[in-house]
This record gives sequence, C-alpha cells and structure tokens, in this order.
Amino acid sequence: MKINFDRYVEITLKDIEINREVISRSSINILIKAINKINIFLDHSKVDLLFDKDWLSENKLFNSAEFFILKSNQKKLMSKESQPAESIDYNIPEIRDFFAFFPSCEASIVDVKATELRILHNVATMSASERIEKMRAILKNTKKMAMADKITKEMADKIGTILTELCFISRLEMFTYIENLRKNEKINIDTETEASNPSGLINMKTISYDIIHVIVKILGKEREEHDIFDFNIHFSDKSLIAHSNRVFLNFVDFLYYYNNEFNNKALSARVRIEFQDKFLHYYKKIFEKFSPKRANITSIQEATKMGLRALSFEEICDYGRSAFWHDLAKLYNVDYLAPEGSEQQELAKRHVFNGYYLSRYTGKPTLNAIMILGLHHEYYGHGYGVFSKMYAKKKSMDPNFDIPYIMTYDSKDMEQLSSVAFFPAKILEIIDVYDVLLFPSKGIDRKPMTPNEAISYMRDIMIEETLKLDPIIFNFFVSFLKNVKGGSPDLVEI
Ligand SMILES: [Fe+2]
Ligand SMILES: [Fe+2]
Repeated sequence: MKINFDRYVEITLKDIEINREVISRSSINILIKAINKINIFLDHSKVDLLFDKDWLSENKLFNSAEFFILKSNQKKLMSKESQPAESIDYNIPEIRDFFAFFPSCEASIVDVKATELRILHNVATMSASERIEKMRAILKNTKKMAMADKITKEMADKIGTILTELCFISRLEMFTYIENLRKNEKINIDTETEASNPSGLINMKTISYDIIHVIVKILGKEREEHDIFDFNIHFSDKSLIAHSNRVFLNFVDFLYYYNNEFNNKALSARVRIEFQDKFLHYYKKIFEKFSPKRANITSIQEATKMGLRALSFEEICDYGRSAFWHDLAKLYNVDYLAPEGSEQQELAKRHVFNGYYLSRYTGKPTLNAIMILGLHHEYYGHGYGVFSKMYAKKKSMDPNFDIPYIMTYDSKDMEQLSSVAFFPAKILEIIDVYDVLLFPSKGIDRKPMTPNEAISYMRDIMIEETLKLDPIIFNFFVSFLKNVKGGSPDLVEI
C-alpha cells in the first residue's frame, strides 16, 4: 500500500507517551516507519505496546522506528515535552500548602502542570484585595466576550484559562477560611455569620457567580467548530481542576441541548411514546424501593412531579454554578466507583457532605445549588449524600413513610423528602460518571475507557444491573453525545 506521507506529521516516542490517553480516547492510529522501510499501522487501542519492553524485544522491527500521525490529529495532542518556560520558583509555601491540602488538584500532563502552576503562582501570591481586583477584571473581559456572535478558538482558550483561575481562587479562599477556623476553635461552623467572614470570601463569591453567569450565556452561542474546547489544555488532564472544567462545560452544553429538544417538542413527544415500553419498569423498580404503594404507576406524570419541562436561563446558570463547584470540597484522589462500604467510598462520602455544608456558609448559593452539591452521588439509593442520610433517619422514625415522586424540579421537595431525586442532580451524576470513566483520577487503578466503553458500562452496570443512573436522562445524554459532541453513531441507548 502506498502511503502519502504529506498527510502525516512525525511524532516522537516521548510525545506518544505523554499523550497515551488522548491517543486511545480519540482513536488516533500511529503510522510506524520500521526498519527496512516497512510501514505498519498501529491501532490506537494497542499504543501501550510501544512501552512494553518484552514486546519490543520480541519485535526488533521497531528498533529506531519513526512514528507519524495524521496532520489533522495533531491539534488533539499536547505539544512537545515542554517544561515551564520561565524560571519561577514554585517551591513557595503558598503552593506547597495548596497541593498538600488539595492533592487532587495537581495535574499529571507536563504542559498542563506548567500552565496551571503559573496560574496558581499568580493568584496564590496575591493579597485578598488584589484577587478581588483580578476577579473584577476577569468579569469585565468575560462581558466583552459575551458580545461576540460566535465562540472562536481564541475565546475558548480564554474561557479555559478563566475557569482554571476560578477553580484555584475558590479553593485558595476556602483553604484560608478553613485555616482561620482551625486557628480559632471558638468559631462555630454553623453559626458563623457573613459579617465576620475575614477573607472577603462573600465578595469573591459574588463576583465568581457573575463570571459563571456570563460564561453560561457565552456557551449558549454557536461555535466555530463543535470540538473547540475538546483539545484545550484546561480540559485535558485527569486532575480535579480539568474534571471540574469539563463537567461544567458538558453539563451546561447538555442543559442547552435538553432545552432545545424540549422546545422543539421532540423530546417530550419521544418520552411519552417510549415511556410504557422502555422506561416504566425502571420507575416501578424505584418505587418498589421507596414507595411500594405507588409501584403500580402507568405514566411519567405519576413519577415526575409536574411532568418534564424546559429550564429557564436562570436555572441553567444556577445549576451550572453547582456543576462547576460540585467537587469543591474534594481534597484527595478517591474513586467514586469504589465498592459500597469500602474505605475509598467512605472517603468519597466526605466531599459530598463537606461541599454541602461549606456551600451553605461560604456564600449565598440558592437552595437549588446547595442541593445539587449534596445530591450528586445519590444513585437512586445506591450512593451517598444528603437524601440517603435524611431518608434513613426519617424511615427509622416512621417505617411506613412513603415518597410520592421519583423526580422533581423543585429543590424544596428534596428538603421535605417528597421526591427521591432532583432533576439537575441526576443530570450531574451522569455527566460526572462519564467523565471519571474517561479520565480516572491520578493513582486510581482503572484504565481510561473510550466513549463507547463508558456508555456501555453506564447502561449495562449502572442502569440494567443496579439502576443507579436515570434511564431517561441517560438516553438524552447518548443523543447529546451523538448530535452535539460528535460522538460515534455506534453509541447505544437503552
Ligand atoms: Fe463528586
Ligand atoms: Fe466530580
């Protein structure tokens, strides 16, 4: 076979190693020019072989081979093995303390780490008032961007940087606040008032809220290319910073998609038609668990309070903020998918409750936002969080207690235990799980899955086998991946 090398670009073995996960996730095949001018295509799924000493010693053909990828794939990879360009001293107490407190925020990819260290160094060495000034400047810039008709590549890069800056700033503020609490044991976490907040956190939170509001507005605009954010440095790593950025972006994109479909009537019609055959048995199963008397339902209106509906822009902003800060209190690399009752799961539980309580007293989030933080790992009674805790308490006092609905759009219903799940939190569960399957955190012994593998796992294990995720939202999510995110047509719904 004659190969047109003009379409290819050479890549070093080191660059392949740095980009192993991206190569397998983005299905980038490697063309190898081996000895004796033999050309071989290595499938993306086999890229690990190039780093397997035993395999290489048996395949001498690859000694001093040259490697190529299609030019069109080049933008998907991290650039060369670069190091931090300037000689900033990162070994300062502010940065050491930060990563000692938030080890989950440390990036793995060399380029990402260099970029994020520069950002963290910049904001960590600012005074509280300088940080507020910085936030005001970001807000001004973001508002300018919101006047554009389309999202350009340059805007996408800027948005990535802003989100990473916000991730670091909010954690630095939380760290300072907790340190202050620790130093003064008399401060009671439940009675602390905003007026006595020493670090300007409320002010900071208000500006961050406004910034996210404007970014949500920008994300509703058309994009120059659908994958404009996909290979951006701020959305590439497996650290918590990149996870928060990706989950926020995918969550907001999904909510816009959901609304569009809903307003076209396509979505509500589809659900009504498919409900009896496809979804009814799942909802009966959930009612059997929480309200056996209601397990004889026949329509979606009986399962979802007020039926399905579109979301307002304010709701999208409110929920989007929660998606951005959903793991604010996650300090360590823990596996969400660890078996029930394991030590890892016990650790994972903490970030939900800490996030829920911290969000209540560090700013002015709405009840919707607080609830999403406290409910994003409930998994219809297989997980942990505010609902499971409240429900267990209520059931111990009243063994006949029944929950009238499975799904609600009203967070007050969650406080009153009149619904099993809160619609935006069930969406966040799906977006979050999909992301951790594709990007397992550092130190977690799980191979990154391809989109196909992740969707199959979510469908077969987390719906068919255990019914943790919501099946209707899952199907919307699969259509969203196919129609908005350029996902493969092979992705299989329920
Ligand atoms: Fe989480
Ligand atoms: Fe998460």
